[in-house]
Amino acid sequence: MAQFTSSTTSESTAIQAAPASLPPTGAIPSPTRPQPRTTRYDTAVVGLGYVGLPLCLAFARAGASALGIDTDRTKVSALAAGRSYIKHIAASDVAAATAGRRFHATTEFREASEADSVLICVPTPLTANRTPDLSYVANTARSLAPHLRRGQLVVLESTTYPGTTEEVVKPILEQGSGLVAGRDFHLAFSPEREDPGNPRSRLSEVPKVVGGLTPACRDRAADLYRRIVKDVVPVSSCGVAEATKLTENIFRAVNIALVNELKMIYSQMGIDVWEVINAAATKPFGYMPFYPGPGLGGHCIPIDPFYLTWKALEYGQRTRLIELAGEINTAMPEYVVARVIDALNDAGKPVRGSRVLLLGLAYKANVDDDRESPSYEIMKLLEKRGAVVAYNDPHVPVILAGRSHHDVAGRMSLPITGDHDVMVLCTAHEEYRGFDFAKLGVPLVDCRNFATLRPAAYHRA
Ligand SMILES: NC(=O)c1ccc[n+]([C@@H]2O[C@H](COP(=O)([O-])OP(=O)(O)OC[C@H]3O[C@@H](n4cnc5c(N)ncnc54)[C@H](O)[C@@H]3O)[C@@H](O)[C@H]2O)c1
Repeated sequence: MAQFTSSTTSESTAIQAAPASLPPTGAIPSPTRPQPRTTRYDTAVVGLGYVGLPLCLAFARAGASALGIDTDRTKVSALAAGRSYIKHIAASDVAAATAGRRFHATTEFREASEADSVLICVPTPLTANRTPDLSYVANTARSLAPHLRRGQLVVLESTTYPGTTEEVVKPILEQGSGLVAGRDFHLAFSPEREDPGNPRSRLSEVPKVVGGLTPACRDRAADLYRRIVKDVVPVSSCGVAEATKLTENIFRAVNIALVNELKMIYSQMGIDVWEVINAAATKPFGYMPFYPGPGLGGHCIPIDPFYLTWKALEYGQRTRLIELAGEINTAMPEYVVARVIDALNDAGKPVRGSRVLLLGLAYKANVDDDRESPSYEIMKLLEKRGAVVAYNDPHVPVILAGRSHHDVAGRMSLPITGDHDVMVLCTAHEEYRGFDFAKLGVPLVDCRNFATLRPAAYHRA
């Protein structure tokens, strides 16, 4: 095991001496002198998924050495072979980092002791009862603790409720290592702000919020992230950083619920909600456009707000607006199904026995991520009513058995043909924009106001 360097030991000693008041954003000084290090890796990242893998590659691109740790052997093997399993991450980037010896993937937690810092990017889903499932975070902390070294920095990046870093991660790390956070090792929280599928969004351009257990913990984490992002936003505690991430996602969930509600109201009035939103968006101040859709999807927006709902109860607080937004958004697939039934009815067909093609299984345009996708709920609701449902998605060629969707795993994307009674455009993949739906003549229910070449029987949902 590598020895810890004197540089970090002195930094560790400085923990109690660091100023309690916060400097302005981005003003935390960088280390004055580069120090020699004897560890093998600048950083280790635990959880090589949509968040962790790009993070490893960003460090590698910045000239740092990154160790990636994941319990999934297939992912580790793929990376070792220079392959990518995430569509928007090029295999050439993985191969370049691996070949340049700036990135190494492993399933072995003991290798974490060879890194100066350890960033935790594991899933934070909800349980079946919609309470926070911190088992991945807790298991990671348990696996890491025996290998934790004096002077290391640990940062939790997984989205979670305020208090997790101090109340869940800290005690597990301390008990398993015999070390004390803030004294023997640094502990911080810094949320990830990924915008999957947006080619204009670069990790280095997105400011990184960082909160630490102590000011020195925060400063250490801020210095680390300055290697890969332009702006670091230091905040006064892990709790503030945790709450910042939840606030961003709650803001989206509530605003999406608002336009989903407006969509249903305006539809009854014969008013096109998309036209309204586009007109409102011309206001140069005080308005930000959000767009309606078939329901929430992805790992974040449908889940994260309920982390706060759960935690708020501990303080006797109800998150009424958040829960109402959840209710409205969760009801969207039913609304879509009602529009599909209307479209079939117009064509003189019952839903039972009708062939329905869903266009888009990914929760978001131009990505291959189908987690929590409302398309699955629409599929289930239609099948419950006796429809024969298939899907097309150029980004999801086959449904994999992930943490959910076991019942439909193995189904494959079908081509878009005229062999269906109705099609439902769920995801605004670029491939559908100019597709000639008019020529096919199959009724189309468009949840995204996206198709341009529309059939005569065109419905919005
Ligand atoms: N995907 C996004 O766009 C996004 C954006 C911002 C924040 N987040 C948050 O980041 C976190 C990670 O999300 P993700 O989308 O990268 O998840 P993911 O499922 O794509 O990746 C998580 C990885 O962690 C691995 N893993 C699980 N348990 C482990 C353990 N005990 N030890 C080591 N590895 C383990 C899994 O095998 C998987 O490869 C979540 O908290 C999520 O809410 C995600």
